[in-house]
Amino acid sequence: MLKKLCVIASVSLCSAAFAADCSFDLKGTDKMTYTDAKGAAVPKIVVPASCKTFKINLGHVGKMPVTGMGHNVVITKSGDVAGVATDGAKNKKTDYVKPNDPRVIAHSKMIGGGQSTSVEFPVAKIKGGGYKFFCSFPAHSGRMIGDLVVQ
Ligand code: CO
Repeated sequence: MLKKLCVIASVSLCSAAFAADCSFDLKGTDKMTYTDAKGAAVPKIVVPASCKTFKINLGHVGKMPVTGMGHNVVITKSGDVAGVATDGAKNKKTDYVKPNDPRVIAHSKMIGGGQSTSVEFPVAKIKGGGYKFFCSFPAHSGRMIGDLVVQ
């Protein structure tokens, strides 16, 4: 639909339309899950290759405090998830992310019910594929995790 419109619309209108797709509204719940704005599961987030940067907006739609049901968004290679989550669990004061961890592409702060945050990163950094987004609150990465797919 959008591509069809782009054929007949002006170039500037087209880039404006595509620029609007360079973000995703992710929700975190009291049930230790990520959902989309409609409450559906989010096994993957598609990142348009045409985007220079991509932003994930995280809103905690639950009521539990950050100390009991904290959520964030951390981006790493798939193979680094376990290590980053394990080391992150020891770093409560820094949003459960080890400071200056070179395996972390980007991460948001940790939030509780009713709060929101976001994380933005250059698409070039994940272009090779094989990257995940996950929550690094202790024991959350098993359920709160998905693929970042550039296409
Ligand atoms: Co969480």
